[in-house]
Parts: sequence; structure tokens; C-alpha cells
Amino acid sequence: MDSDKLMTTAAPDRDDPAARATWLRAELERHAHAYYVLDAPTIPDAEYDLLFKELQGIEESHPDLATPDSPTQRVGALALAQFAPVTHAVPMLSINNGFSDEDIVAFDRRVREGLKTVDEVEYAAELKFDGLAINLRYEDGVLVRAATRGDGSTGEDVTANIRTMRSIPLRLNTDTPPRLLDIRGEVLMYKADFARLNARQREAGQREFVNPRNAAAGSLRQLDSRITAQRTLRFFAYGIGALEGAQLPASHAALLDWYAQLGVTVCSERAVLKGAAALLAFYRDIGQRRASLPYDIDGVVYKVNQVAEQKTLGFVSRAPRFALAHKFPAEEATTVVQDIGVQVGRTGAITPVARLAPVFVGGVTVTNATLHNEDEVRRKDIRIGDTVIVRRAGDVIPEVVAHVPERRPADARHFVMPCDCPVCGSPIVRLEEEAVARCSGGWIKCPAQRKGGLLHFVSRRAMDVEGLGDQLVEQLVDKHIITTAADLYKLGLTALVELERMAKKSAQNVLDALEKSKSTTLARFIYALGIRHVGESTAKELARHFGQLDAIMQASPERLLEVADIGPVVARAIRSFFDDPLNVELVAQLRAAGVHWQEGEGSGDNGERPLLGQVFVLTGSLPTLSRDQAAALIEAAGGKVTGSVSKKTSYVVAGADAGSKLARAHELGVPVLDEDALQQLLGQR
Ligand code: IVH
Repeated sequence: MDSDKLMTTAAPDRDDPAARATWLRAELERHAHAYYVLDAPTIPDAEYDLLFKELQGIEESHPDLATPDSPTQRVGALALAQFAPVTHAVPMLSINNGFSDEDIVAFDRRVREGLKTVDEVEYAAELKFDGLAINLRYEDGVLVRAATRGDGSTGEDVTANIRTMRSIPLRLNTDTPPRLLDIRGEVLMYKADFARLNARQREAGQREFVNPRNAAAGSLRQLDSRITAQRTLRFFAYGIGALEGAQLPASHAALLDWYAQLGVTVCSERAVLKGAAALLAFYRDIGQRRASLPYDIDGVVYKVNQVAEQKTLGFVSRAPRFALAHKFPAEEATTVVQDIGVQVGRTGAITPVARLAPVFVGGVTVTNATLHNEDEVRRKDIRIGDTVIVRRAGDVIPEVVAHVPERRPADARHFVMPCDCPVCGSPIVRLEEEAVARCSGGWIKCPAQRKGGLLHFVSRRAMDVEGLGDQLVEQLVDKHIITTAADLYKLGLTALVELERMAKKSAQNVLDALEKSKSTTLARFIYALGIRHVGESTAKELARHFGQLDAIMQASPERLLEVADIGPVVARAIRSFFDDPLNVELVAQLRAAGVHWQEGEGSGDNGERPLLGQVFVLTGSLPTLSRDQAAALIEAAGGKVTGSVSKKTSYVVAGADAGSKLARAHELGVPVLDEDALQQLLGQR
């Protein structure tokens, strides 16, 4: 970016409206760019709005001062009757898909054959955004037209809508713009903006959108751009159409760098890589982080990086030979709801569950999907017999997103919440202030709650007892061998080997794992107890603040409220848990069984957190610490650990075999630490 554009010039007087308007436009664009493109807001929203209103006022009283690239153009114009067709100067092609490793290896082989080389080819790898392809036409640096892809040759003119997007510059950030530049990329909606939009739609009693892609499409294909103006859409550039009056950069990576300089958003998740193996590693890395990205993607895209090589390879039918989309398994699919049953959770919560005709989604076959609670079933109007859209993203439990109205059979039936718990027969009750209905049996009466509680207790992030899964807990509870978590530690080899599918060897492994789990941390232990509203991070805060279990068990609600993140509801839940003599007894038995941890001092406050506000990314394997241990140390010192490297990352901690995250850190200039340096940072406490 031109550095002079980043600087604030002195504000001209209000009695010179022309100069004032020019200055206001520059200021507003600068702040919008900082906010939407750099993700680093420079002024509060309210101040932005004031500057904006002032410019609007000037343009209203001096229509001759209005310009097409003024930020005021972003509020939306009068509704159109229809979109005008736009013929693309250079057709917008599609891209071939690959699904398996073999497909990628074959693509790379074809590329090398086409280039007549045996050497590794250089590729630009990036994300395949799940939005809508758009062409932005800039003439002499000013946005003059935006069009959808349409059939590739002719799209629709959505200029008025695109102008409302603050993430798209109305004027390129350069004093020497090309005469003509067609920038191609994807318009999409962030997941958080999508959730906010749907919440708003719901409140207004309007139709909700099924996913961010549909919401982006619905927002962009609005004849009334004032509606588009109220939606937050984003743009990532990934290609080029026509170009006149400037030299085409020599590589795809250089093209994207140029766009970034011009003030056009490009995604930071990209890399230049050599050879098929590196492409596959990129695919896996992104795949692991897919769920934590702020937007939906449906794969990654590999493009031969050098433009000269792209030209050599050329096109087959309507797709380039030099690019391939490597798709992830689809996260959404449609299927039929055969029945709606209920599941009883560890807190007694009754969750309606759709029993589905088997469907392959998110890489696995799904037959059950959660409907969350009774209100959700009503709100989404899901009935037995409906065809529905099922979503399974990452490791998240599959859920029913929506029904397909056109495919509802005449005999579709409503779900009825049962009156009694299907597991223990106790009445199901629903408190007025709660969204969920619960089995009133408690864990004493209800085996489902006991099983849920036990599974939580042994889970990886709690006591971490390996090999104690669903089926084993199921048998142990059903055969009345155990009732509470403390009974787990009384298990002997004889009892275990009598169970189904339990050889002596695996029984011994379970006992060993139980023994090992006795040595734990206070935070894990508190989390394992399954106190309502006390998740992992609250458990950590409690452990850090009080240091000792007895202090927590005896703490008054007032004392509990002093802990970071704890509000009245959570404080009450903790208090009432330890007011129950059965729970006090459980804790005593667990300690008597040998469950122990290092009791600490307890900070008694929220201070002493040298890494507060610092964001870490861990990559590769460290010489002595496991990833979880390193993360725990960082978190205990107030730092945060995230999965992906961005401009907001304070440090990347890298060990052996660090991959693309380390490369990314170097690229962004994020400081890189080894384990020693991390320890030093922690040791400064
Ligand atoms: S390149 C000549 N790159 O995928 C190649 N497309 O192309 C032209 N898409 O509807 C496309 N992310 O909207 C390219 N990083 C990316 C992309 C991408 C998403 C979409 C694009 C188009 C479809 C097929």
C-alpha cells in the first residue's frame, strides 16, 4: 500500500465543502480498510458514523460534489426491477475437482507432462471459498461494475449491491491504476455474521438462511441494495480477467500480493509449495483447521504458480489444466427423517434426536442427528417424514439444519415430547426459564444420567481414562457393577473379564489406565465432576484462583463471583453441587481411592498473568512438552492458544517437523519460539 495513503492529512475547514468532502472520503475509506481488510479498527463505530453523516450532508446540499467512489454510495440505492446482463470480457471458467490423494498425484503428473519437466512444479495453494464468484471491474482505479459469474459468459450486474460492501474498495489504493482491471474472487459471509443475521431474521419473524453461502447469495442477489447494505459480506480475490495498462504479475502469488497492495482483500491462508506431497500436506493442515476458520470452505485450490507455465498448459473445454480444486467431504446432505426419538444426557437434559435414513455427510455415514430441544423442533418445523438438510461439520455432532418444504409428505407427523423419561420412567419436567426439558430422576434413579456422567468423568479432557468407552460404561451400569465415579476405582480384574468383549489383556489395560488417571490436576478433577455450567475453562479458572479443592468446596457465592468468567448462575451451580452431601461423599471417596493432584497456593485474584492478551500457535513436536502441556502452561499464564497463524498471532512455538504454520509465521513476520524460549517467557513470572 502507498504509505502516503495511510497517513492522516489535516482536516480542511468545514467552510470549504469540496476539500472537506474529499478529505472525508479518504478518511472513511482509510478507516473502512483498517476495519475490514486489515482487521485492525482505527476509530470507534460511532465516530465513523459521524464522519459518514457529515459527508452525506455535504453531498446532499452540493450534488455536484457527489462522486461514484464515495463511501456514501455504500448505503444502497433504489430497488431495481431486475438485474441487467453483463457479458464477461474474459469468460469466468470453472475448475476441475479432485477428491483423493491419487487425484492430486495424477494432476501433478499431468502438469509435469504438460510442462515437459521431471522437476517439482511450483504451486500456489489457497482455499476454495464456499460463496459466490464475482467479477469486479475497475477502470482507472475506480470500481465501475460488479457482476456474478452466471453461466460463465454472461452474469448479472450487481454493482449497486457490491458498492454497499465496505470490504471492497471503491477506488484502488494506487496513484498509477491500470486503465482496466477485472478482479475475480468470492463473496461470502463469515459464520459469525451469518449467525447474527439469522438471529435478526428470527426476531423479525422472517425466514432464516440455511447456511452462510445461501445467506451470501440471497444478500447479493437483492434487487433492493438497501437490504444488502444491512448484511455483512466479505470478499477474497483469487483471480484476474481482463487487464489493460499494466503488466500482469509473473506469478499467481505475486498477483495476490499486488491485490493486497491495491487494498483488495486476499486470504492469508495461502502458500507457495513445490510438488504433490506438499500439496497434500497443505490439504491436511487446512482440513484440520477447517472448522475453526471464520468462514466456510469446501476444499483447497492448487494453481501452477508461474503465469508462463499456466499459459503453456492452457485449457481443456471449460476448465484450466493448471488448476485443481481438492474438495473436502461435503458437510451437508439431504435425507429423510424416519422418526424422532429422545436422548437423555448426563444432566438429564432430554434432546430430541432425528432418526435418519443413512446418509454420507462430513466423511461418515450418519443415522442420527440432534434437534437440540423442543423449541428448535418447532422453530425449524421438523416433522417425521420430512426431507431435511443434515450438517456435520468437523467433529461436531450432526444436526438437522432445515426441512425442505416442497418435499413434505401429506402424512408428515409432529414430534411429541414424552411425559416420562424413556430410560428410568421418572417424570420429565421443563422449568419455565429453561429451554430444555429434563428427566427428574437424577443420577441416582436414571441410568442414562449415570452413564453420561461417567463417560464425562473418564473423557480425555477430564480424567483421561483410555479404553473406557461407551459400551463398557453401558455394561458396567446396566449390570449394576458401578453407580458412581468412585466405584470405577474399586473395579477388579475378575469383574471386568466377565463382561462381554473383554479379554484379560484389555481388562488389565483399563485398570492400568484407571490407575494412571489417579494422578491428575485440580482443574481436570473439577471439570470431571460434571458440575452444571462448569466447562473446561471455568474449571481452570477455579483451580487457578483457589488453588485447593477444599477452598472451592467451601467458597461462598460471593467468593466464587470473584473468579474471572464466573457469574451468578455458575456460582449458584457450584454452590448447590457442593451443598449436596452425595457429592461431598463422592469427592471424599475419590480422594480415598487415591485420586490426587498438586495443591497450589491459588492466586486469589485475576492478576499475575504475564501472557495475558498474547496469542500463541503451537506447531511441530516439542522436545519435552506435549502439545496439551505447552497449551496448559500458556493458558495458566493468561495466554491463549489458537489453531491458525494470522496477523493477530503473538508467537508461534515450533518444534520438530513444523509445517505450513511455521512458513506462515515467517511470511507474516510473527516471532517464532522454540521450547526453551517458551519456558523462558513463562519463567518470567
Ligand atoms: S479459481 C480459472 N480459486 O470455485 C480458475 N475458484 O471455479 C477459476 N472458487 O465458482 C476459478 N475459491 O467461485 C478459484 N481460490 C479459488 C476459489 C474458486 C472458490 C469457486 C469459484 C467458482 C468455483 C469453480
